[in-house]
Amino acid sequence: MRRSIGRTNGAVVSSSLNAGDVLATLSELPLDSLHERAVTMTDEPESLILYRDAAGQVSAWLNVCPHAGRRLDWSPGQFLRSKQGELVCAVHGATFALPGGQCVAGPCRGACLREVALQCDGDAVRLAAAKAGAAQ
Ligand code: FES
Repeated sequence: MRRSIGRTNGAVVSSSLNAGDVLATLSELPLDSLHERAVTMTDEPESLILYRDAAGQVSAWLNVCPHAGRRLDWSPGQFLRSKQGELVCAVHGATFALPGGQCVAGPCRGACLREVALQCDGDAVRLAAAKAGAAQ
């Protein structure tokens, strides 16, 4: 099932996207911002974290904390940040470096978020087909 991305009150509404579909445009991703996208990978629904760093590079990880397998956001697309700008898991407080995705503090220190490959095509940020099949 494919649906388009929409917005409600400025927040991006999750949609189900497949490999090759546009996850976001660069204009939707301000520098140093985190976003959530619902996608379908190998026929399974997944939640992704999108992060565009201060230099404009976009990274994606599965929205699954390596500590206990829970989502990192406290509400879909709502992520906690430390004063230093790290990503903080809303469940038990594991803290992840950005843009690397390594846990630098908390119960899974040393673990990493599972990266998902992206491809940028002009302004469009897409889920890369090859990595999409590998992430299960
Ligand atoms: S599930 Fe994220 S810190 Fe425990």
